[in-house]
Amino acid sequence: MKRRYKNDIERYGSDILKSEELQHAYDQTHHTWSTVGEHTLRVAAASLAICYALRKIHVSTDTSAVVKGALCHDLGILGRYEKYKSNKECSRRHPADSVEIARKLVEDLPEKSADIIGRHMWPAGHSKAPNSLECVIVSVADKYAAIKDKVHDLFREDNSSD
Ligand SMILES: [Fe+2]
Ligand SMILES: [Fe+2]
Repeated sequence: MKRRYKNDIERYGSDILKSEELQHAYDQTHHTWSTVGEHTLRVAAASLAICYALRKIHVSTDTSAVVKGALCHDLGILGRYEKYKSNKECSRRHPADSVEIARKLVEDLPEKSADIIGRHMWPAGHSKAPNSLECVIVSVADKYAAIKDKVHDLFREDNSSD
C-alpha cells in the first residue's frame, strides 16, 4: 500500500488496527475468497482514494472520520454464523453491531464515524440513507471493494476451469 494511505490509516486508526477484533477479522472469510480484515483495509484505502481525489478539486472531507468508519464498518460481522440466523439478518444487523464495537475501540468515536458505520449498507439491508459526504464515500468504497472481489473471483473460476 502507498505510504500516504498507510500513514493516514495508522494516524487515525491506530486503536482499531491494534485491536483483537481487527486481528480476528483476518480469520473470517468474506466475499468468497477474501477475509473481513483484508476487505476492511481495501475499503479504507478506496475511501481514502476518493478523499484524495476530492481534495484535488477543492472538496474537503473529514479523513479521520472516514478512516475510523471504514476500519470498523464490518467488525460486527465477526462470528456471523453464530450470531445471525441468515444472510438477510446479518445484512440488516451487522452495521449496528459494528457501531457498538467501534464505540468500545475508539474513545469518543465521532458521531460522523458512527453514522458512516451504521449506514454503510445503504441502499441494502433496510439501512438509513447516508447523511454526510463521508458516509457516501465509505458506502461507495464498500460496494466498489465488494464488486472488485466478485470480479476477481470470477477470473479465479475462469482460471480453474481451464
Ligand atoms: Fe457491511
Ligand atoms: Fe464491507
